Amino acid sequence: MSFYSQDLVEEIRARSDIVDVISSYIKLQRKGSNYVGVCPFHNDRNPSMSVNQPRQIYHCFSCGAGGDVFKFVMEYENLTFPEAMKVLAERAGISLPKRETSKEARQQADIKAQIMEMNKLAAKFYYYTLRQPAGKVGLDYLLRRQLSQETIHRFGLGYADQYSNSLYQYLKNKGYSDQLLKESGLVQADEKRGMYDKFWNRVIFPIMDIRNRVIGFGGRVMGDGKPKYLNSPETKVFDKSRNLYGLHLARLSRKPNIILCEGYMDVIAMHQAGFPQAVASLGTAFTVQQSAILKRYTNEVLLTYDNDEAGVRAALRAIPILRDAGLSAKIINMEPYKDPDEFIKAMGAESFQKRIDEAESSFSFELRTMERQYDFEEPESKTAFYKALSEKLLTYEQGIERNNYIQAAAKRYHLGYEELSDMVNRIGKHLGGLTRAPAPTKPISQRKRPEDLSLRSQRLLITFMSSEERMFLAVRRYVEPEEFTDPLCRKVAELLEEQQKKGHLNPAALFQYFTEEEDQQNLSAMLHGTPLALSGKEEEKKALQETILRVKQSSIAYQMTHMDPNNVEMLQKIIQKRREIEKLHISLD
Ligand code: UTP
Ligand code: MN
Repeated sequence: MSFYSQDLVEEIRARSDIVDVISSYIKLQRKGSNYVGVCPFHNDRNPSMSVNQPRQIYHCFSCGAGGDVFKFVMEYENLTFPEAMKVLAERAGISLPKRETSKEARQQADIKAQIMEMNKLAAKFYYYTLRQPAGKVGLDYLLRRQLSQETIHRFGLGYADQYSNSLYQYLKNKGYSDQLLKESGLVQADEKRGMYDKFWNRVIFPIMDIRNRVIGFGGRVMGDGKPKYLNSPETKVFDKSRNLYGLHLARLSRKPNIILCEGYMDVIAMHQAGFPQAVASLGTAFTVQQSAILKRYTNEVLLTYDNDEAGVRAALRAIPILRDAGLSAKIINMEPYKDPDEFIKAMGAESFQKRIDEAESSFSFELRTMERQYDFEEPESKTAFYKALSEKLLTYEQGIERNNYIQAAAKRYHLGYEELSDMVNRIGKHLGGLTRAPAPTKPISQRKRPEDLSLRSQRLLITFMSSEERMFLAVRRYVEPEEFTDPLCRKVAELLEEQQKKGHLNPAALFQYFTEEEDQQNLSAMLHGTPLALSGKEEEKKALQETILRVKQSSIAYQMTHMDPNNVEMLQKIIQKRREIEKLHISLD
């Protein structure tokens, strides 16, 4: 991923102590052998970020952010890797060689980093065009929609002009290949027209990830044309199910909740009106991954989906997802307006705040929409409703949670608690005899499955292995890198082996091999785990032995389930290995 040699990267790292560097951005305090500070990457007041000086890495125990010194500077200053190199080199007084920009060198460099760079250039290009005479139609449109200059600036809004290949020409001149331009989603190709821009004659909404990097775009026609919005396709850097529009600002808003809505303009209107905690899903249904991301920043999500049938359906689908992530959900009523943008324009920010204060609990919202399908004057229909209600209540985990909801429902329909509770149990028994039990509502992460246990052991073993050379060698005698079934753990084990062979373990240098945020966070958590001291204590030995065995066993189990069942030879080999493991005596001395 780097344009520079590995030696140079390591030289800069050696001269950029992570505690010194991070201290120049945020306040760090010594705590035991670590340093701690308030994490700048999410909304927090507690010192959740830990900086480990011997390993030269940082990790936030609250939001999961983590990495080495380069990663911190990249995240904090919104820079690409080569840019962060430059900052740290300058700080350390190291001069960098001129960056290699030959075509071959660029082609070899990581595609993702290049798409990110193209997106950044495109965003600047659109932003600039909006402020040119040619962009006046775009600017007028945005002003007509009552956006202030400041808002337009804060969201980096832009304009793609009337010509169908302005951006293509611009990026082509910067030296990007047609192939890469296509991969970025900014340019399309067909036989008749050749290469042409995805967006033209539209106002442009850049979409940022939480690190303020431009990952995609939305573009709106300025009148009634169709489609109203065009969006970037998914690319190597743009995953719609894992990003939310506006989250880079909302996560720093220091508000007690996050407002989830449907549209770009809704987010922007809310931010402008003093609700910077607003985010939107990206023209697609709300996902489980998005709910997990929101949970890092808040405990309460307020929904302001459009006030129409599709909006209600979308809200009903989002509620259980939020609930499963452990988020409490409420619904903001925007009657008689269609969306938050229109509401705020008509009624103002104060009225919107009032609607926030009066937001309805998701349970009540679910019941209310259910009620509409039944006629309470009709005895039969009323019975059917109670049955549906009981079935709904059965979807909650038995115990306190379900009882709380039964209580709330009983109150709402003027029933006795016992009466409703009996009905729910009766229907539960009946259903239990006929159909499957309701799906557990616990978040997936809290269910202990064999895979989780195996993954935990593998990660723990990486924690041990990366802690010190002696430990690495002790474990390595018994475990091959291929025995890790988790791809991240396997790769890390291989890299550690390489480092060890070349001289010494360098945990901080592992980060540059992973470009996915998720991988980096998991790696960071592993490297920040508490390693064993290997002081010779019995329980420490035992913990290590057990972890090694579990990793080896799960490797065998994995091979068994993934092998060709007709391959007798393979089966015998695996069985042989399993026997060996059973007899294995792990000695760490
Ligand atoms: P809406 O149609 O509700 O638009 O779409 P809006 O947000 O109110 O937009 P304005 O106020 O008319 O400008 C909501 C969201 O659905 C996606 C976009 O993300 C939009 O913000 N959408 C909508 C599309 O992707 N394509 C479309 O053609 C329409
Ligand atoms: Mn709208």
